[in-house]
Amino acid sequence: MPVIVAANPKGGSGKSTVSIVLGTTLSAQGASVRVIDADPQRTLARWAEGSSRFRDIVVTPSQTEDLTVLIDRLQSQFQFVFIDVQGTANQEMVAAMSRADLVLIPMQAKTADAEVATRAISLLRSQENLFKRKIPHAIVFIRTSPIIVTREEKEIRLNIASAGVPRFTSSLNERTAFSHMFAYKCSLGELNAKDTNGLDAAQHNAVELTAEMVQLLRKHLEAVA
Ligand SMILES: Nc1ncnc2c1ncn2[C@@H]1O[C@H](COP(=O)(O)OP(=O)(O)OP(=O)(O)O)[C@@H](O)[C@H]1O
Ligand SMILES: [Mg+2]
Repeated sequence: MPVIVAANPKGGSGKSTVSIVLGTTLSAQGASVRVIDADPQRTLARWAEGSSRFRDIVVTPSQTEDLTVLIDRLQSQFQFVFIDVQGTANQEMVAAMSRADLVLIPMQAKTADAEVATRAISLLRSQENLFKRKIPHAIVFIRTSPIIVTREEKEIRLNIASAGVPRFTSSLNERTAFSHMFAYKCSLGELNAKDTNGLDAAQHNAVELTAEMVQLLRKHLEAVA
Protein backbone atom coordinates (compact mmCIF):
# COMPACT_ATOMS: atom_id res chain seq x y z
CA MET A 1 0.00 0.00 0.00
CA PRO A 2 1.35 3.41 -0.91
CA VAL A 3 3.47 5.58 1.34
CA ILE A 4 3.19 9.29 0.66
CA VAL A 5 5.59 11.80 2.16
CA ALA A 6 5.04 15.55 2.32
CA ALA A 7 8.52 17.05 2.30
CA ASN A 8 10.00 20.49 1.88
CA PRO A 9 12.83 21.82 4.06
CA LYS A 10 11.09 25.20 4.07
CA GLY A 11 9.02 25.76 7.20
CA GLY A 12 5.39 26.69 6.64
CA SER A 13 5.31 25.34 3.09
CA GLY A 14 2.06 23.41 3.62
CA LYS A 15 3.29 19.91 4.55
CA SER A 16 0.94 19.40 7.50
CA THR A 17 -2.01 20.99 5.69
CA VAL A 18 -1.61 18.88 2.58
CA SER A 19 -1.14 15.71 4.69
CA ILE A 20 -4.27 16.24 6.76
CA VAL A 21 -6.40 17.45 3.83
CA LEU A 22 -5.51 14.38 1.77
CA GLY A 23 -5.67 12.01 4.75
CA THR A 24 -9.10 13.15 5.96
CA THR A 25 -10.52 13.38 2.42
CA LEU A 26 -9.52 9.79 1.67
CA SER A 27 -10.87 8.67 5.07
CA ALA A 28 -14.19 10.42 4.39
CA GLN A 29 -14.31 8.51 1.10
CA GLY A 30 -13.99 5.26 3.04
CA ALA A 31 -10.28 4.50 2.64
CA SER A 32 -8.19 3.25 5.55
CA VAL A 33 -5.54 5.84 6.27
CA ARG A 34 -2.79 6.66 8.71
CA VAL A 35 -0.84 9.90 8.88
CA ILE A 36 2.42 9.69 10.77
CA ASP A 37 3.33 12.91 12.54
CA ALA A 38 7.12 12.70 12.25
CA ASP A 39 7.58 16.38 13.08
CA PRO A 40 8.71 17.11 16.67
CA GLN A 41 6.52 20.25 16.49
CA ARG A 42 3.62 17.75 16.64
CA THR A 43 1.26 19.86 14.52
CA LEU A 44 -0.86 16.85 13.60
CA ALA A 45 -0.76 15.27 17.06
CA ARG A 46 -2.23 18.54 18.36
CA TRP A 47 -4.87 18.43 15.62
CA ALA A 48 -5.75 14.90 16.78
CA GLU A 49 -6.38 16.19 20.30
CA GLY A 50 -9.63 17.65 18.94
CA SER A 51 -12.84 15.72 18.54
CA SER A 52 -12.71 14.94 14.82
CA ARG A 53 -14.11 11.54 13.90
CA PHE A 54 -10.85 11.09 11.99
CA ARG A 55 -8.54 11.86 14.90
CA ASP A 56 -7.37 8.24 15.08
CA ILE A 57 -5.73 8.45 11.67
CA VAL A 58 -2.84 10.41 13.22
CA VAL A 59 -0.02 8.28 14.59
CA THR A 60 2.75 9.76 16.69
CA PRO A 61 5.95 7.70 16.57
CA SER A 62 7.18 6.46 19.92
CA GLN A 63 10.72 7.35 20.93
CA THR A 64 11.75 3.74 20.84
CA GLU A 65 10.37 2.68 17.45
CA ASP A 66 12.39 3.39 14.36
CA LEU A 67 10.42 5.46 11.81
CA THR A 68 11.02 2.99 8.98
CA VAL A 69 9.79 0.11 11.18
CA LEU A 70 6.63 2.09 11.96
CA ILE A 71 6.10 2.91 8.26
CA ASP A 72 6.51 -0.75 7.26
CA ARG A 73 4.10 -1.87 10.00
CA LEU A 74 1.40 0.63 9.01
CA GLN A 75 1.93 0.07 5.30
CA SER A 76 0.97 -3.56 5.69
CA GLN A 77 -2.28 -2.62 7.45
CA PHE A 78 -3.63 0.51 5.79
CA GLN A 79 -4.47 1.62 2.26
CA PHE A 80 -2.64 4.93 2.50
CA VAL A 81 0.17 5.95 4.83
CA PHE A 82 1.13 9.63 4.86
CA ILE A 83 4.17 11.03 6.63
CA ASP A 84 4.38 14.65 7.69
CA VAL A 85 8.02 15.53 8.33
CA GLN A 86 9.74 18.50 9.89
CA GLY A 87 10.64 21.57 7.87
CA THR A 88 14.35 20.71 7.87
CA ALA A 89 16.37 18.17 5.98
CA ASN A 90 16.97 15.59 8.70
CA GLN A 91 17.15 11.87 9.38
CA GLU A 92 13.35 11.47 9.49
CA MET A 93 13.04 13.02 6.05
CA VAL A 94 15.64 10.60 4.68
CA ALA A 95 13.95 7.64 6.41
CA ALA A 96 10.53 8.68 5.08
CA MET A 97 11.87 9.19 1.56
CA SER A 98 13.49 5.76 1.66
CA ARG A 99 9.99 4.25 1.87
CA ALA A 100 8.09 6.75 -0.31
CA ASP A 101 5.95 5.74 -3.27
CA LEU A 102 5.29 9.43 -3.80
CA VAL A 103 6.93 12.54 -2.38
CA LEU A 104 4.69 15.59 -2.38
CA ILE A 105 6.56 18.88 -2.35
CA PRO A 106 4.11 21.52 -1.25
CA MET A 107 5.11 25.12 -1.85
CA GLN A 108 3.67 28.56 -2.37
CA ALA A 109 3.97 29.89 -5.90
CA LYS A 110 6.49 32.51 -4.78
CA THR A 111 10.00 32.99 -6.11
CA ALA A 112 11.67 32.66 -2.69
CA ASP A 113 9.76 29.44 -1.99
CA ALA A 114 10.61 28.05 -5.41
CA GLU A 115 14.30 28.56 -4.63
CA VAL A 116 14.03 26.55 -1.43
CA ALA A 117 11.94 23.87 -3.17
CA THR A 118 14.86 23.24 -5.53
CA ARG A 119 16.77 22.17 -2.41
CA ALA A 120 14.04 19.64 -1.68
CA ILE A 121 14.38 18.32 -5.22
CA SER A 122 18.17 18.04 -5.05
CA LEU A 123 17.85 16.28 -1.70
CA LEU A 124 15.43 13.87 -3.32
CA ARG A 125 17.83 13.31 -6.22
CA SER A 126 20.66 12.48 -3.81
CA GLN A 127 18.34 10.03 -2.01
CA GLU A 128 17.57 8.44 -5.38
CA ASN A 129 21.29 7.92 -5.94
CA LEU A 130 21.77 6.60 -2.44
CA PHE A 131 18.88 4.11 -2.65
CA LYS A 132 19.45 3.37 -6.35
CA ARG A 133 15.76 3.80 -7.13
CA LYS A 134 13.53 6.47 -8.59
CA ILE A 135 11.36 8.27 -6.07
CA PRO A 136 8.19 9.55 -7.73
CA HIS A 137 7.57 13.13 -6.72
CA ALA A 138 5.48 16.15 -7.63
CA ILE A 139 5.20 19.75 -6.55
CA VAL A 140 1.86 20.88 -5.12
CA PHE A 141 1.17 24.58 -5.14
CA ILE A 142 -0.61 25.81 -2.05
CA ARG A 143 -2.35 29.05 -1.14
CA THR A 144 -2.96 29.87 -4.78
CA SER A 145 -5.72 32.20 -5.84
CA PRO A 146 -8.80 30.33 -7.00
CA ILE A 147 -9.50 33.22 -9.37
CA ILE A 148 -6.30 34.28 -11.09
CA VAL A 149 -2.89 32.86 -11.90
CA THR A 150 -0.39 35.58 -11.00
CA ARG A 151 2.49 36.45 -13.29
CA GLU A 152 4.91 35.16 -10.62
CA GLU A 153 3.07 31.84 -10.54
CA LYS A 154 3.13 31.58 -14.33
CA GLU A 155 6.90 32.13 -14.35
CA ILE A 156 7.46 29.57 -11.61
CA ARG A 157 5.28 27.06 -13.49
CA LEU A 158 7.43 27.57 -16.60
CA ASN A 159 10.68 27.18 -14.63
CA ILE A 160 9.43 24.01 -12.99
CA ALA A 161 8.35 22.59 -16.34
CA SER A 162 11.67 23.43 -18.00
CA ALA A 163 13.55 21.82 -15.09
CA GLY A 164 11.49 18.67 -15.78
CA VAL A 165 10.00 18.58 -12.29
CA PRO A 166 6.51 17.04 -12.16
CA ARG A 167 3.74 19.20 -10.74
CA PHE A 168 0.14 18.63 -9.73
CA THR A 169 -2.33 20.24 -12.13
CA SER A 170 -4.63 21.07 -9.24
CA SER A 171 -3.38 23.17 -6.38
CA LEU A 172 -4.60 23.84 -2.86
CA ASN A 173 -6.18 27.26 -3.07
CA GLU A 174 -5.94 29.89 -0.37
CA ARG A 175 -9.05 29.13 1.67
CA THR A 176 -9.99 29.90 5.24
CA ALA A 177 -11.34 26.34 5.47
CA PHE A 178 -7.84 24.87 5.26
CA SER A 179 -6.55 26.91 8.18
CA HIS A 180 -9.83 26.37 10.09
CA MET A 181 -9.17 22.62 10.01
CA PHE A 182 -6.33 23.35 12.43
CA ALA A 183 -8.09 26.10 14.36
CA TYR A 184 -11.07 23.80 15.05
CA LYS A 185 -9.08 20.53 14.92
CA CYS A 186 -11.44 18.86 12.50
CA SER A 187 -11.90 17.76 8.89
CA LEU A 188 -13.42 19.94 6.17
CA GLY A 189 -16.67 17.98 6.42
CA GLU A 190 -16.86 18.77 10.14
CA LEU A 191 -16.54 22.53 9.67
CA ASN A 192 -19.62 24.69 9.73
CA ALA A 193 -20.40 26.69 6.57
CA LYS A 194 -21.68 29.51 8.78
CA ASP A 195 -18.24 29.97 10.37
CA THR A 196 -16.11 29.17 7.33
CA ASN A 197 -16.40 31.08 4.08
CA GLY A 198 -16.07 29.11 0.87
CA LEU A 199 -16.32 25.73 2.57
CA ASP A 200 -17.97 24.07 -0.43
CA ALA A 201 -15.26 25.31 -2.76
CA ALA A 202 -12.56 24.07 -0.35
CA GLN A 203 -14.16 20.63 -0.18
CA HIS A 204 -14.38 20.47 -3.95
CA ASN A 205 -10.73 21.52 -4.15
CA ALA A 206 -9.69 18.84 -1.64
CA VAL A 207 -11.53 16.11 -3.55
CA GLU A 208 -9.95 17.22 -6.82
CA LEU A 209 -6.42 17.23 -5.34
CA THR A 210 -6.99 13.84 -3.74
CA ALA A 211 -8.23 12.34 -7.01
CA GLU A 212 -5.16 13.62 -8.82
CA MET A 213 -2.89 12.15 -6.16
CA VAL A 214 -4.60 8.75 -6.36
CA GLN A 215 -4.27 8.86 -10.15
CA LEU A 216 -0.55 9.68 -9.89
CA LEU A 217 0.02 6.87 -7.40
CA ARG A 218 -1.86 4.43 -9.60
CA LYS A 219 0.32 5.37 -12.56
CA HIS A 220 3.55 4.97 -10.58
CA LEU A 221 2.51 1.72 -8.94
CA GLU A 222 1.42 0.24 -12.28
CA ALA A 223 4.75 1.25 -13.78
CA VAL A 224 6.72 -0.68 -11.15
CA ALA A 225 4.34 -3.71 -11.07
N1 LIG B 1 -4.44 26.40 1.20
C1 LIG B 1 -4.32 27.11 2.32
N2 LIG B 1 -5.19 28.11 2.61
C2 LIG B 1 -5.05 28.83 3.75
N3 LIG B 1 -4.08 28.65 4.65
C3 LIG B 1 -3.17 27.68 4.42
C4 LIG B 1 -3.24 26.85 3.24
N4 LIG B 1 -2.23 25.98 3.28
C5 LIG B 1 -1.55 26.23 4.39
N5 LIG B 1 -2.09 27.25 5.09
C6 LIG B 1 -1.59 27.83 6.34
O1 LIG B 1 -0.20 28.07 6.18
C7 LIG B 1 0.50 27.81 7.39
C8 LIG B 1 1.62 26.81 7.13
O2 LIG B 1 1.07 25.58 6.70
P1 LIG B 1 1.55 24.19 7.32
O3 LIG B 1 1.55 24.21 8.79
O4 LIG B 1 0.76 23.15 6.63
O5 LIG B 1 3.06 24.18 6.78
P2 LIG B 1 4.23 23.14 7.18
O6 LIG B 1 5.07 22.99 5.97
O7 LIG B 1 3.64 21.91 7.76
O8 LIG B 1 5.00 23.97 8.29
P3 LIG B 1 6.19 23.41 9.25
O9 LIG B 1 7.42 23.37 8.38
O10 LIG B 1 6.27 24.45 10.32
O11 LIG B 1 5.77 22.06 9.72
C9 LIG B 1 -0.54 27.31 8.38
O12 LIG B 1 -0.92 28.40 9.19
C10 LIG B 1 -1.70 26.86 7.50
O13 LIG B 1 -2.95 26.97 8.16
MG1 LIG C 1 4.09 20.98 9.57
